[in-house]
Amino acid sequence: MNNDAADRIRRGLGERYELIGVQALGETDSTNLRLKEWARSGQIAPPYLLTADSQTAGRGRLGRSFVSPPGTGLYMSLLANMPPDTDAGKITVLAAVAVCQAVEEMTDLTPRIKWVNDLFVGGRKVCGILAEGLGDSVIIGIGVNLKPPAGGFPREAGLAGALNRDIDGPELAGCIARHLLSGLENPGDPAILAAYRARMPLVGHTVRYTQNGQTKSARVTGVSEDGGLMILGENGPETLRSGEVTLGSDTLARIMG
Ligand code: BTN
Repeated sequence: MNNDAADRIRRGLGERYELIGVQALGETDSTNLRLKEWARSGQIAPPYLLTADSQTAGRGRLGRSFVSPPGTGLYMSLLANMPPDTDAGKITVLAAVAVCQAVEEMTDLTPRIKWVNDLFVGGRKVCGILAEGLGDSVIIGIGVNLKPPAGGFPREAGLAGALNRDIDGPELAGCIARHLLSGLENPGDPAILAAYRARMPLVGHTVRYTQNGQTKSARVTGVSEDGGLMILGENGPETLRSGEVTLGSDTLARIMG
């Protein structure tokens, strides 16, 4: 346990949440996996925040891995009670908004959201989010690239980029958790969806996506109340609830921060 980092995390959490369970690790396999095991075995209860300096088995969405080398990023997971009557889409929306708000609070940057919850700065992905349900709880895992690894990001990291700002990782983790916990107190607050829509610039653009093994393209028309991506394709209007969309690299660079 790294006490100095834990103190800096609590600084970011602020008075309202400073007494939640916090632990800062050096290396671990995956902060999401750790919280899942500890919660299942009754070692911890929500709310609980875990951070790590690096992960040996960082997990991404859609079964991918998440590159998590030491000295470059912030890897954190928050175990929280699932608010009643809340669906996964709302958690996704509020998590993306919480990270944007924390980065905006601590830097001069204004991250853009690529549906569903990838955060981009300067046309590069700087943050990924993996939310996983666990009984009545949810584990919200967040990886933020603070600076590029020596030698650059590996090929498998795709469009990865970094915030590249002089920023304290543990304090940012606390600040993100503060925004998450505050959002979870009232996930139906219309201001959260409005904040998501304002930062999600895909509307009006053509995206590609895969459905039943087929690649299709459609124009994005909006974000639904439950966080789905509303599109207009050859079969008329539809709402995507999960998966991923891609768009041309020029457009991506132009609209994503
Ligand atoms: C994605 O972009 O596909 C989601 C990446 C989520 C990565 C974070 S890093 C902290 C937490 N622990 C994990 O193993 N994954 C999440």
